[in-house]
Amino acid sequence: MTELVGTGGGLRSACFAPHSALYLRPDGLVHACCVTGFSVGTVHGPERQSLREIWDGAALSDQRQALEAGAFDLGCQECEFVASSAGRGGSLAVHFDRFAAGAPHEYPRLLDLALSSRCNLQCVMCNGGLSSAIRTQREGLPPLPECYDERFFSELDEFLPHVERLQFKGGEPFLARENRRIWDRLIDLGTGPEVTVTTNGTVLNDEVVRYVRELRMHPNVSVDGVTPETLEAVRVGVDAGRLWRNIDVFQELADEAGNGMTLSFCLMTVNWRELVPFLVEADRRAVNCNVILVNQPRRFDLLQQPAEELAVVLDELTTASPPLAGAAAVAWDEVVGRIRSHLESPVELVGSSTVLMSRPVERSVQERLRSLLVDTYGLDPLVVEAEEGLVCHVDVPAWAGWIGAEEFTGRPIDSLGELLDERFGPRTVRWLVSPMHGVLVLSTELDAPHGRRDLRGHRLVDAETGRQRVYVVDVEPGAPVPSIS
Ligand SMILES: C[S@@+](CC[C@H](N)C(=O)[O-])C[C@H]1O[C@@H](n2cnc3c(N)ncnc32)[C@H](O)[C@@H]1O
Ligand code: SF4
Repeated sequence: MTELVGTGGGLRSACFAPHSALYLRPDGLVHACCVTGFSVGTVHGPERQSLREIWDGAALSDQRQALEAGAFDLGCQECEFVASSAGRGGSLAVHFDRFAAGAPHEYPRLLDLALSSRCNLQCVMCNGGLSSAIRTQREGLPPLPECYDERFFSELDEFLPHVERLQFKGGEPFLARENRRIWDRLIDLGTGPEVTVTTNGTVLNDEVVRYVRELRMHPNVSVDGVTPETLEAVRVGVDAGRLWRNIDVFQELADEAGNGMTLSFCLMTVNWRELVPFLVEADRRAVNCNVILVNQPRRFDLLQQPAEELAVVLDELTTASPPLAGAAAVAWDEVVGRIRSHLESPVELVGSSTVLMSRPVERSVQERLRSLLVDTYGLDPLVVEAEEGLVCHVDVPAWAGWIGAEEFTGRPIDSLGELLDERFGPRTVRWLVSPMHGVLVLSTELDAPHGRRDLRGHRLVDAETGRQRVYVVDVEPGAPVPSIS
């Protein structure tokens, strides 16, 4: 049963992120938070929207409604997963509860900004979408375009005075001119919101010191190891000695500002032995600490190690456990709790496409979905199956002949939309609230030979084979999604 949180005003929701926050990514896509895979708009490219259009738009409203109904299907599977293994308190959702009163708000209360991927490091678990150094050097790709232009900054001006908290991420935030522009504006406005900056800690100069002081920033410095060997092996390009000296300076500035400081640790297969020394160091410094259980790339995901190996990890960690206090003790309990709970009842999260994470769905549940579709729409669904992202099988009922789905085989499943565009002209794509856990519903409106239709796909990961499967029906645009009793 999903836990709903109340606002006092009658509104209840599993999470208030879509009611209170926006996360802006380096590629211009806008999400409600940094964990969801569900985009609510873009401020870049031919489909760009204004911040106001996005905040008042249908996509964000759909996500709010889904969560108010206790459904995590619009891209919120990761929080559902964490809540089921560690309790809601361990999930990101809980961070938005403080903004619940009065929601939904006329303006976002929290802006989480990753406006640029400019970065000087190539951390092993990071990717070219978040680090320009990785994109150009490790991936050999051209730099990503800058997505935030004059129009964006003038729209942002209307929002900034209403924001209670700003979180700057990246890329490396202290290398981004976009951030400096916002910090200058915040200093002019003098509204004094909370400002946190998640930084790799390598950029420290007079200008950085001035911003940290004037905006009383809370620095959140990422250190994924304690020994120079591990730290430098994970955070590729860092000089461990210099980083710790910079951390000393950030800590002095943070003490001066009085808003605290955090040290972050990405817990992975390659550095778990340094978790205890990390927590001891955070405790010694009396700073806040944040442990992130990395799940992508999969080889770094500690929880997805074979159970025997994970049991050894838990054993070593608990044997080594020193007395900890404060934030370090809380982080310790959370991590040990997550590992224990995973060993007791493992839940596997499967990356089902570039943007979706989903729980595998059992065959019996898929049969219920199929019957629901047949009962509601009077059609046996077209079924498209993909392995490792490539379509490997299609099952085409007689009604679906006009789609030409036989030619899907061998193509990437994420490229089928473009094929439909070529055949039927531009589509309109929208996520809908799903009738079942683990099933993502995508509405694709297009001009079919028999008129305007909605090819509605019900996308899931098959528990038996790990393959992606999409059950597609041909419905009237705007047809309601069936609800399951
Ligand atoms: C993308 S970084 C951007 C800010 C800054 N460059 C830094 O490293 O702190 C934001 C946070 O994400 C963490 N991170 C990087 N790769 C990750 C992954 N694959 N999974 C989870 N967190 C990750 C980083 O360690 C950092 O704490
Ligand atoms: S410093 Fe941050 S953005 Fe840069 S590569 Fe490392 S995690 Fe990614």
